Amino acid sequence: MIDPKTLAARFPGDFLFGVATAAYQIEGSARADGRKQSIWDAFSKMPGRVHNGDSGDVACDHYNRLDEDLDLIKEMGVEAYRFSIAWPRIIPEGVGRINEKGLDFYDRLVDGCKARGIKTFATLYHWDLPLALMGDGGWAARSTAYAFQRYAKVVMARIGDRLDAVATFNEPWCSVWLSHLYGIHAPGERNMRAALAAMHHTNLAHGLAVEAIRHVTPNVPVGLVLNAHSVIAGSDSAGDKAAAERAFDFHNGAFFGPVFKGEYPKSLVSALGDKMPAVEDGDLAVINQKLDWWGLNYYTPMRVLDDARQGAEFPATQPAPFVNPEKTDIGWEIFPSAMTDLVVDLYDRYELPEMYITENGACYNTEVENGEVNDQPRLDYISDHLAAAADLISKGLPVKGYFAWSLMDNFEWAEGYSMRFGLVHVDYETQVRTVKKSGKWYTQLAAQFPKGNHRAG
Ligand code: FCB
Repeated sequence: MIDPKTLAARFPGDFLFGVATAAYQIEGSARADGRKQSIWDAFSKMPGRVHNGDSGDVACDHYNRLDEDLDLIKEMGVEAYRFSIAWPRIIPEGVGRINEKGLDFYDRLVDGCKARGIKTFATLYHWDLPLALMGDGGWAARSTAYAFQRYAKVVMARIGDRLDAVATFNEPWCSVWLSHLYGIHAPGERNMRAALAAMHHTNLAHGLAVEAIRHVTPNVPVGLVLNAHSVIAGSDSAGDKAAAERAFDFHNGAFFGPVFKGEYPKSLVSALGDKMPAVEDGDLAVINQKLDWWGLNYYTPMRVLDDARQGAEFPATQPAPFVNPEKTDIGWEIFPSAMTDLVVDLYDRYELPEMYITENGACYNTEVENGEVNDQPRLDYISDHLAAAADLISKGLPVKGYFAWSLMDNFEWAEGYSMRFGLVHVDYETQVRTVKKSGKWYTQLAAQFPKGNHRAG
């Protein structure tokens, strides 16, 4: 563990420390005040999809505990809150009728943050697509991109004046590949054509939303949150290195390429082009608009080997063994320097604006004992990754802030409630919140800012 003061001295005085959550993972009240179902409500009710049959019906009951949760953020002394907005609360059928009561909730949320001096970083899409849109094909349908643009407009018109930043999407990799190709997340598709359609329509929706946001609220910095993969070849062989490059194109280039360069990776197009949906004239220009910022969500590296089997589908790789045997309770390898290398590599490859680490954190299922949660391994994980973020700043990269995932334990998607990532423990029976050792340490760190450390950035 690194002493908070020593660590703080490595960051500029205006570096932002925050915490992050997402609507479906914490809010609960799945049917309150006109909210309709999302694809995650449906998916979590399908037998065998989510661990233990868990769902976000109640989650952390945040919808009813908004004020006490915002108090908690304030007490933790962090300066910024990254949350997401539930589309099915705002436009319950995805298109058509706007639900004022849904907007009221986020109105109270941003007012509550402002009243407590907490900066607001909103994400418009953290995976809870209105279920009704699946009738048209969900993200496989181009019309969903236009529905998203309208939703973005409606949200910004109502709460945009109190947002410090907005992101269109959280981790398109998950809502595209994990959801439409690997079948792990809602809607649980396993189909390359569907996945490529979701990829292009998500990218298009991002671009259309950027246009809408800039029109309605030109002063709100707009960005995109990507879980860029740190792709590392499992050996120095030419075959494995080429595999890593293909994997980069598939896992990162599919999103970074169109957004930051205005083109899909050539390798992807030549391998899969016949399965791609129509890319219409003008689409790439809409997608490739300069952003004010981007966010990186980083947890673990991706190690790959060549998959030389005949007929292996692009990118034709297989997982390589961990280099560090240490892993968190969800089974992810701990390797902080991969985050540093990844960011350096991305700034080499693309023209990127300034960035935030919008998610980083660790799963440890430590329980409460005598009123305390001694989650030392999480604390170590976070301090080591913050040190890696400080290394990036020393190298001159524009890293402006860090958001710990997560404020509190919550519904961890396909893992249900079995995997805990919070700085704050949640007892799901009683909804009692207990700040963990890592949360207390994070408070000490945040307390060094903005007063304690005014070294120029
Ligand atoms: C990220 C998600 C976030 C959370 C963490 C552990 O992929 O954005 O919602 O589930 O992983």
